[in-house]
Amino acid sequence: MKNILVSGCGGRVGTAIVTRIAASADCRVIAGIDIQAESVGARYDFPVYASIDEFDGKADVVIDCSHHTAAIPLLKYCTENRVPAVIATTGHNEEETDAIRAASAVIPVMYSRNMSLGINLLLELVKKAAATLGADFNIEIVEQHHNKKLDAPSGTALMLADAAKSVREDSEYVYDRHAVRRERGENEIGIHSVRGGTIVGEHEVIFAGQDEIVRISHSAYSRDVFATGAVRAALYLADVGRVGMYTMSDMIADGK
Ligand SMILES: NC(=O)c1ccc[n+]([C@@H]2O[C@H](COP(=O)([O-])OP(=O)(O)OC[C@H]3O[C@@H](n4cnc5c(N)ncnc54)[C@H](O)[C@@H]3O)[C@@H](O)[C@H]2O)c1
Repeated sequence: MKNILVSGCGGRVGTAIVTRIAASADCRVIAGIDIQAESVGARYDFPVYASIDEFDGKADVVIDCSHHTAAIPLLKYCTENRVPAVIATTGHNEEETDAIRAASAVIPVMYSRNMSLGINLLLELVKKAAATLGADFNIEIVEQHHNKKLDAPSGTALMLADAAKSVREDSEYVYDRHAVRRERGENEIGIHSVRGGTIVGEHEVIFAGQDEIVRISHSAYSRDVFATGAVRAALYLADVGRVGMYTMSDMIADGK
């Protein structure tokens, strides 16, 4: 039985993760962290703290799905107590991203801006398409999310762009065609964000060539897809026994 600490347990993704853990026989929530501890705590049968500094127990693994500013204090707890961490939150700045990387020298860390298995397959398909279709095909990425999402473009859109760039190394990302009046450059990867309603997450990578278009897309219909992946990743990290930075692809390749 693994004891999981869930940071951001009161949010949309956090709630789905708590529900997923409750349905699992292999793990339980030892505690939650949420800045709205009082109202969130009233919903759950485990203790919820406003800050990781208030928690003096020992988790087997931590899942963070809160806010990018939570990463540094959370990773301090994890590295001091040798607790593996699944960082599912997006929108980290450079200092926070460096802290995540540094922590992976001390503990196992899974940092994935999209925990769904489908998106992780999409990353492989994008690399294959970019390699097969070559520079004659222009790459554009369109992501759509609900009207409460804070960061744009989505972390997943950037992961997809990075997958394409790993094959087309001279690519440059373009977020705004409004500011400049000129033709599209051959090496551009256009990244576009749509925000509205309750859209859970739509990602489409368009490879537009001469007279033909290839579209690769993924739709998430509920946050359960992220929760399932995050809990699976947490159980994987809790037992992996080797420090380092892990991806969902590593876990899938490991047959977990
Ligand atoms: N990796 C993935 O697969 C994936 C999928 C969807 C969303 N996300 C990311 O997960 C994060 C949460 O998304 P959401 O839609 O659940 O947001 P949300 O706003 O519904 O929930 C965030 C929760 O975190 C709490 N919180 C805010 N700041 C905090 C802090 N410093 N410490 C502790 N708790 C804090 C809030 O009170 C809230 O309950 C976002 O960064 C989002 O982009 C990741």
